[in-house]
Amino acid sequence: MKRKFIEKFKQKYGPWAVVTGASSGIGTEFAKQLAAIGLNLVLVARRKDRLENLKQNLEQSYKIQVRIASVDLTHPDFLSTFRDLTEDIDIGLLVSNAGMMYIGHYFDNDLDAEMKMIDLNVKAPSILTHYFGKRMIKRGKGGIIYTASMLGFMGTPYATAYAATKAYEVAKAEGLAYELKSKGIDVLALNPGLTDTEMTADYDFSAMPMKLMKPEKVARTALYCLGRRTLATPGKMNNMMNFFAKHLMSRQMNTKMFGGFMRKTF
Ligand SMILES: NC(=O)c1ccc[n+]([C@@H]2O[C@H](COP(=O)([O-])OP(=O)(O)OC[C@H]3O[C@@H](n4cnc5c(N)ncnc54)[C@H](OP(=O)(O)O)[C@@H]3O)[C@@H](O)[C@H]2O)c1
Repeated sequence: MKRKFIEKFKQKYGPWAVVTGASSGIGTEFAKQLAAIGLNLVLVARRKDRLENLKQNLEQSYKIQVRIASVDLTHPDFLSTFRDLTEDIDIGLLVSNAGMMYIGHYFDNDLDAEMKMIDLNVKAPSILTHYFGKRMIKRGKGGIIYTASMLGFMGTPYATAYAATKAYEVAKAEGLAYELKSKGIDVLALNPGLTDTEMTADYDFSAMPMKLMKPEKVARTALYCLGRRTLATPGKMNNMMNFFAKHLMSRQMNTKMFGGFMRKTF
């Protein structure tokens, strides 16, 4: 990363960032890359041992402070932990990244599991946006990143409810980015395609036209695009698919094509 980029990033989005879902995959990468930029971090997930290891590694490697919170973001009272942990620090960046996915026939997933996914993928980002967004408005600058998904651009059979939760984040980022621009706050929906993380480990994506990307590149794309764009999709192949989806195909055709791919993954 270039020095000028780092200085500008720290000035606008520092001194502290909150990263949810930091115990694995894309979230761990966000934590590592933000630490390399020099931001202090509040890292959140349920697996405390993972967060403790990451804290130790990052504090040893960079001159930053790291606070961790083992929090279940589907718990109704989770915000109280964030209040206690962050009331004395200046948060300039929220990376709302934690998420869960269900792939399979819609009615094979029970309603409780679907509600939990909505709690994590939709409700928790909204609660965090209200809490940290209001604080950022007071300070007159900041940034919010939602890890959404390419699937948020279309109805996706066999990931029907998951895609719908990601569509919420895409639309929310677009609306909020417009509203918050005059307040000095940048909003980005990161829309990864297939990424090589624990989330994708149990499925067979060999029928898909794109390869699984590394989480390093996915997180890097988001940090580079924040403040420059509202939607960001990492990877050339994924962007080509977005182009075809948007300019050459109808929504119905996209849904049909992805239905064909998704049926072969589980
Ligand atoms: N992998 C892909 O192909 C892909 C593609 C598009 C978008 N995404 C999105 O990228 C984001 C990160 O996913 P990933 O691919 O990096 O998967 P991952 O490795 O499974 O990471 C998910 C993260 O969310 C945390 N999490 C899950 N449930 C939680 C809960 N109830 N409370 C708090 N934290 C919770 C997990 O930590 P704990 O288990 O320790 O709580 C973990 O840190 C998700 O929003 C996902 O939807 C992924």
